[in-house]
Amino acid sequence: MFKKLILKMLSAILVPLFLALSACIIVFMFYIKKYYKYWEKRNVPIESNFFLVNNTYSVFSGKLHFGSFLIKLYQSHPEDPYFGFYILGKPHLFIRCPNVIKRICENHEYFQDRSFFCEERVDPIVSKSVFMARNPEWRDSRQKLNTLFSPAKFKAMVPKILSHCKEMNLSLEQYDNQIIDVQITAESLITNVVSHIFLGIDSQCEYDTNDNVVKTAMKHVFGKGWYQGLAFFVYTFAPKLVKVLKISLIHDDFIKTIVKDVMRSYYDTKDIRGTRVIDILAKNNINIYQESENFFDENWLVGQSSTIVLASFIPMSAFFALSLYELSLNQEYQEKLREEIFGFISDENFDETLESIRNMKYLNMVVAEILRLYPLGDFVNRNCNKDYVLQETGLKVEKGTPIMISVSAIHADPKFFPDPCKFDPGRFENGTKEFERAGVYFPFGFGQRSCLGGRFSLVAIKIALVEVLRKFKFEPCNETERPIMFDNRVINISPINGIKLRITKL
Ligand code: HEM
Ligand SMILES: *[C@@H]1O[C@H](CO)[C@@H](O)[C@H](O)[C@H]1NC(C)=O
Ligand SMILES: *[C@@H]1O[C@H](CO)[C@@H](O)[C@H](O)[C@H]1NC(C)=O
Ligand SMILES: *[C@@H]1O[C@H](CO)[C@@H](O)[C@H](O)[C@H]1NC(C)=O
Ligand SMILES: *[C@@H]1O[C@H](CO)[C@@H](O)[C@H](O)[C@H]1NC(C)=O
Repeated sequence: MFKKLILKMLSAILVPLFLALSACIIVFMFYIKKYYKYWEKRNVPIESNFFLVNNTYSVFSGKLHFGSFLIKLYQSHPEDPYFGFYILGKPHLFIRCPNVIKRICENHEYFQDRSFFCEERVDPIVSKSVFMARNPEWRDSRQKLNTLFSPAKFKAMVPKILSHCKEMNLSLEQYDNQIIDVQITAESLITNVVSHIFLGIDSQCEYDTNDNVVKTAMKHVFGKGWYQGLAFFVYTFAPKLVKVLKISLIHDDFIKTIVKDVMRSYYDTKDIRGTRVIDILAKNNINIYQESENFFDENWLVGQSSTIVLASFIPMSAFFALSLYELSLNQEYQEKLREEIFGFISDENFDETLESIRNMKYLNMVVAEILRLYPLGDFVNRNCNKDYVLQETGLKVEKGTPIMISVSAIHADPKFFPDPCKFDPGRFENGTKEFERAGVYFPFGFGQRSCLGGRFSLVAIKIALVEVLRKFKFEPCNETERPIMFDNRVINISPINGIKLRITKL
């Protein structure tokens, strides 16, 4: 009680203090703007500072989603292939042109790092994360993590995913002809699947509740409320401040505890073909089992495990829930997909393999369009690590320049996708390849630093959709939000009020 009061008083002091500090920074930005002619000198169009300040404020106060902020920036320069902007005096480059985006992301020699950065002495765990790490550490971690998704391991994941879909099937039965929040169901499914596969724990999360320790930990691994927004903003735009403000991106000790627990039981479960993050180490060094507990880098393991939880929970849950949402609002597409599924199932040779999922053409079109309309990762960034000349215009991008790219903005540009707000799987009738080649479709990014779990997400969500749609029909009800509102404080795209749908047994 007393503690709460102190906390309240503290926040009553800290929040205005923070706002005052921000105001000083803003004034300072106006001040330095006069002196900062970096982009002007290079003939690069710039985003006017006032617009940026105003929208930055909206992002901080939770009125504007960071992704919508980037879309606004993108749309305010309709004719430019790129434009510059300043954050705390630092020149950033926003790339709009799809060809240039693709070229930069795939150019590993010049753009191998993200603009995020965290020094080891600031946070020994976050700095190890494959998402954050710079070269040469990144390459080593990524190579190890890529082995998690080898064909053999993928094969071992399918029955694990199916076992949770079965539980979900059973649990949903009791809600026949009732209204459920599919966001809750989706988050539970992802909690169970991800913790089972990558951490090796049985989280036993029920499908109709948020009340589960592992789920709660996964949900808040980033921290809650404005802290999350602030942390991400600082990591994205002012990595130098990370040190000053001592901001950690991984907020929840629970994940750290879980991973350490798993490590402790490690000696009992020698699972060389296992799918857990910890099993990578076994693959890389069989002798690890005979070595002492201190043999491997605990921070590395905790860093990668937390990264996988962080990177998968929000986007994958939203991916599944939004698929059910769009298929509810578009019954004809739901029927068409179900017909395709039943067509496959009636085939005597059908079993839930990666092969049969791959052959479901309409299913592929549906999930591709969900990720077009809701590119859950939202944006991509790179850091230029060697002076680079853009051939189109001759602009020299100097070493150290952060590059910002908005996936959402490209996916929502009517030049590339006519009537972009419409959910229309027919756009991908001929697959996604052409769009990818043109640089206009990249829900998982491009190049060697693209999403580690892209293929895994697609496989898992497709399996879940097949299992649930062959048993249930989903329809909108009077409580279904249209359009879905997203949580402005979450950096990814995440529905804030849940997604209520009517579920009926077929
Ligand atoms: C629908 C689900 C997901 C979406 C839309 C998504 C999207 C993205 C995007 C846009 C990036 C940045 C790519 C780039 O910079 O080019 C990324 C990076 C990453 N994602 Fe995902 N992701 C998803 C699920 C997952 C899952 C399930 C995992 C883990 C199993 C994962 C792990 C990662 C990691 C580790 C990175 C950083 C890779 C690196 O820097 O080497 N993601 N993701
Ligand atoms: C500031 O941003 C808000 C929200 O994006 C907008 O409604 C408002 O008109 C903007 N104000 C100015 C002066 O541009
Ligand atoms: C879900 O239910 C359907 C219909 O009863 C069934 O055919 C399917 O095998 C179930 N899925 C799983 C993973 O058990
Ligand atoms: C797919 O390809 C066919 C044949 O080339 C073409 O007629 C059709 O318009 C294409 N569909 C879309 C959506 O581009
Ligand atoms: C939805 O409809 C039900 C009856 O069908 C009603 O009880 C409920 O209040 C309605 N909810 C909303 C949000 O309108």
